[in-house]
Amino acid sequence: MLDDLQSRFDLRTAPGPGIRAAVTGGAEGIDAATIDRCPDLALIAVCAVGYDKVDVAHARARGIAVTNTPDVLTEDTADTAIALMFAVYRRVALYDRYVRDGRWEKEGPPPLARKLTGRRIGILGLGRIGSAIAKRCAPFAGEIAYHSRTPVPGAPYRYAADTVALAAGVDVLVVATPGGKGTAGLVDRAVLDALGPDGTLINIARGSVVDEDALVAALAEGRLGAAGLDVFAHEPHVPETLLAMENVVLLPHQGSATVETRKAMADLVIANVEAFFAGKPLLTPVE
Ligand code: NAP
Ligand code: GLV
Repeated sequence: MLDDLQSRFDLRTAPGPGIRAAVTGGAEGIDAATIDRCPDLALIAVCAVGYDKVDVAHARARGIAVTNTPDVLTEDTADTAIALMFAVYRRVALYDRYVRDGRWEKEGPPPLARKLTGRRIGILGLGRIGSAIAKRCAPFAGEIAYHSRTPVPGAPYRYAADTVALAAGVDVLVVATPGGKGTAGLVDRAVLDALGPDGTLINIARGSVVDEDALVAALAEGRLGAAGLDVFAHEPHVPETLLAMENVVLLPHQGSATVETRKAMADLVIANVEAFFAGKPLLTPVE
């Protein structure tokens, strides 16, 4: 994306006067102080759908527009959630390590995995990505339930009134909400205990949505069965305790990270910046 930006625009890499548009990633975002170091800023284009690291309220107060990259990454992120589910239940990463470590030859077959087909799956946040995950689960799930603050009209899944109720009625809880203040710690000890010792947590949303200390404790104490995590509270740091757990699959925030989708995201960022400089309507403004 850097080359494309460089060939089209006068690119600067440090904040300062004269900068009218800023491009940032979801993990980096942009804070109020950096925004204020750019007195001429009028657009922040985020190369991610999640903009929880952007101080949107401050940008709005300064009259700065914000864009993100919805839709183009939905399918790949949903695929990542499904990959994590299967990796946890069918022990894909563990078995791979078992073969590479020569344990198959030395010790014979490893312990059995668990069946995913027929499990009850709960989606926390039935938005674009949550819906794509639910669609993928439909052919193999026993039941699909969801919770979001507003029930989705026409959704063919059972609605749970809150997050604890959702967790209590499913085997797998998939977190697919945005991050930020509104969802911080939404998946807390009570939710994890409701999911229980046979339950699995999948998080492809943001680390901030899950109380990470409570998650580590629940796994360590056997109050939660397993987890598949693409995101963490303090990326790229992953709690040491998780690294040693065989019932946990860990990914380095790769939800949308395919060559095809990263290109589509970069194209959308550039299209937004071009529209801005051409005085045309932005393609995907954050409402
Ligand atoms: P979206 O379409 O806006 O969906 C978000 C869903 O979360 C909505 O159903 C919303 O419904 C629900 N929600 C919001 N606040 C909630 C709350 N407090 N309690 C319960 N539900 C709540 O967004 P999306 O495109 O699906 O993306 C979702 C998030 O996935 C992004 O914001 C990003 O953080 C994350 N993501 C991660 C990766 C990765 O690489 N791992 C990739 C892409 C996206 P209501 O408003 O009705 O509550
Ligand atoms: C990735 O995490 C995104 O929000 O697009």
